[in-house]
Amino acid sequence: MGNRKPFVAANWKLHGSRSQLERFTTACLKGLSDDVETVLCPSHVHLDFASNLLAEQSLMKLGAQSVSQHKSGAYTGEVSCEMLIEAGCRYVIVGHSERRRLFGETSFIVAEKFAAVRAAGLIPILCLGESGAARQARRTFEVIAEELDIVLEKNGAMAFDNAIIAYEPIWAVGTGKCATPEQAQEVHSFIRGRLAEDTPVIGDKVRIIYGGSLTPANARDLFAQPDVDGGLIGGASLDDQAFLGIVEAAK
Ligand code: G3P
Repeated sequence: MGNRKPFVAANWKLHGSRSQLERFTTACLKGLSDDVETVLCPSHVHLDFASNLLAEQSLMKLGAQSVSQHKSGAYTGEVSCEMLIEAGCRYVIVGHSERRRLFGETSFIVAEKFAAVRAAGLIPILCLGESGAARQARRTFEVIAEELDIVLEKNGAMAFDNAIIAYEPIWAVGTGKCATPEQAQEVHSFIRGRLAEDTPVIGDKVRIIYGGSLTPANARDLFAQPDVDGGLIGGASLDDQAFLGIVEAAK
């Protein structure tokens, strides 16, 4: 993990309710400490409510799961960066594989969203990851490079001065099949190296977190890898004790 501050985020996807948020934040705020930066990403509709629950403390921050690249206009169902800021968000997940695969977000759109998030003063959590088929075909690095390069071309390496990258192999998302520490380390080191080629200081500084079937049981070995700086948690983050267990493993 080097000397970068560990970062662990909860992506609640299409789950959760106000009462669940109340229970989760109460338990987490009792159990968290300053050693690990943590972020909660509930549904858009719950952001305001969660923002009130997280007010006047700095142990857990608020993030959104997605955002429009547009500032305003005729985009039914979309939410802008300004709206997220008003709702108390600091972070936004950009390019999650579920958005790419199920909602047609191309790498070009992801690069535009990344730019919009940064321009608004929010911090992007950029997700990259290969499919199972791509891994089997030994195309992992090619896919990761493609997804990263288009964001780099549009935004430049310095844009990663204040951004998080999440490596989420698609075959590990929600499958119970976590990447091995070696598999994760190899890709994290590749991503860091690619940024460092352009701007060494960014390569050293950027936090690269892992996502995909993380649990308290497998997190410690993954976080022990030199280039794994924390996690983006789906299913396990719905359980406060599991989430706290993963945060503990990141210390
Ligand atoms: O963004 C988190 C994610 O996609 C991983 O989900 O359920 O495999 O932890 P999960």
